Amino acid sequence: MKERDSLKIDENGHLTVGGCDVVRLRERYGTPLYILDEADVRERAAAYRAALSAYAGESLVLYASKALSCLAIYEIADEEGLGADVVSGGELYTALEAGMPADKLYFHGNNKTPKEIEEGLRAGVHAFVSDTPSELSLIDALAREAGKKAPVMLRLNPGIEAHTHRFIQTARVDSKFGFSMDDGAALAAVEQALSLPNLQFLGIHCHIGSQIFELKPYGLSIRRMADFMRLLADKGIEVRELNLGGGFGVTYTAADKPLSPQACAAFVVKEVTDALTKRQLRLPKLLIEPGRSIVGEAGVTLYTAGAVKEIKGVKTYVSVDGGMFDNPRYALYQAEYEAVPADRMREAPTETVTLAGKCCESGDMLVIDAKMPKLRRGDLVAVLTTGAYNYSMASHYNRNLVPPTVLVRDGCAQYIVRPEGYLDLTAKDERLQKKKEKL
Ligand SMILES: Cc1ncc(COP(=O)(O)O)c(C=O)c1O
Repeated sequence: MKERDSLKIDENGHLTVGGCDVVRLRERYGTPLYILDEADVRERAAAYRAALSAYAGESLVLYASKALSCLAIYEIADEEGLGADVVSGGELYTALEAGMPADKLYFHGNNKTPKEIEEGLRAGVHAFVSDTPSELSLIDALAREAGKKAPVMLRLNPGIEAHTHRFIQTARVDSKFGFSMDDGAALAAVEQALSLPNLQFLGIHCHIGSQIFELKPYGLSIRRMADFMRLLADKGIEVRELNLGGGFGVTYTAADKPLSPQACAAFVVKEVTDALTKRQLRLPKLLIEPGRSIVGEAGVTLYTAGAVKEIKGVKTYVSVDGGMFDNPRYALYQAEYEAVPADRMREAPTETVTLAGKCCESGDMLVIDAKMPKLRRGDLVAVLTTGAYNYSMASHYNRNLVPPTVLVRDGCAQYIVRPEGYLDLTAKDERLQKKKEKL
């Protein structure tokens, strides 16, 4: 475990997050429990903002709220001077409810529904980020009905895909996301956006992947975007905003060596400035959209160990009181995590176990090959770096309750997502009725 000021081991061998002993957190809030370290979130958000503000033009860090969306996280993002990227009516609603100014919201998504577009127009989002001709036409039509001009940015596919430690450069045209830059689709989209009377073309966007540890592919995509901006400038088309997406990596296991938010943002500033200056282009407003790297490492999920199943000579399963309903990422794509014996942190590991969830799915695992002291029923187990894409991907599978989230800082805690009860599970159910509606 990588310790930091707000993630430590105390003198009793207990894990502490934000100055709170996890043993106390379990006594007070129970398990499974999502814990979010406020200081870590704020530090990372502030570091991105400070480093991006070295850019000579206007700049804004957008928190990619798909990583974790709830009222408090937008409040924190807003207080730290960030805007947000939202991808659904639900995220937009939550951000607005939290008090985030609509003008700092960018509405993404490859298939926004007419209702969502209307909601974005009504709220006055800063821009819709679009990547299909038919959606551009739809936004134009709905903007006309609303008597507004809709600001749009175009998501482009620079033909670079970066994931984890490797990246590939392709001329892929089969991605679900983005107008291809290789087959003329990107230019055609800009021309379409300019020709539609109820759209205002603001600029271009790209996002090349997730868990990026190496900045080379970023540099490459920046140069591709700059080339495209030069081409547009030659046609007299101005790009006022350039959004380079998110995707910066975090530490899930010891093998992951992410760069700091400062290093990532400083790299972007330098590369964009160099690429645009070299091509004699004016500096547009610069945006980046980190999600995981703001909230990921701040999250810890606390579980209580239950059934232990030892299959002699094969493996030992330790099942916990959570699983794929609070963290589906192993089941989805074999995501790796580090687990720790949260109330016995000073004990040396003696066993290799598989941490399993409690759902009726063979693939419901949390951590494969976790090194642990001999775990007993009732022990506390923490899975680290669960702040991103855990709560936001949680479900009620098997009618399990989505765990609450507590925000911790300086030894104090508060719910930012309250616990559910069984009543919540049936709240929207209807009993069978004798007469159904005639349609
Ligand atoms: C368009 C866009 N921006 C930003 C992000 C955030 O990525 P990350 O959480 O890896 O920083 C994503 C993630 O899928 C995305 O699709």
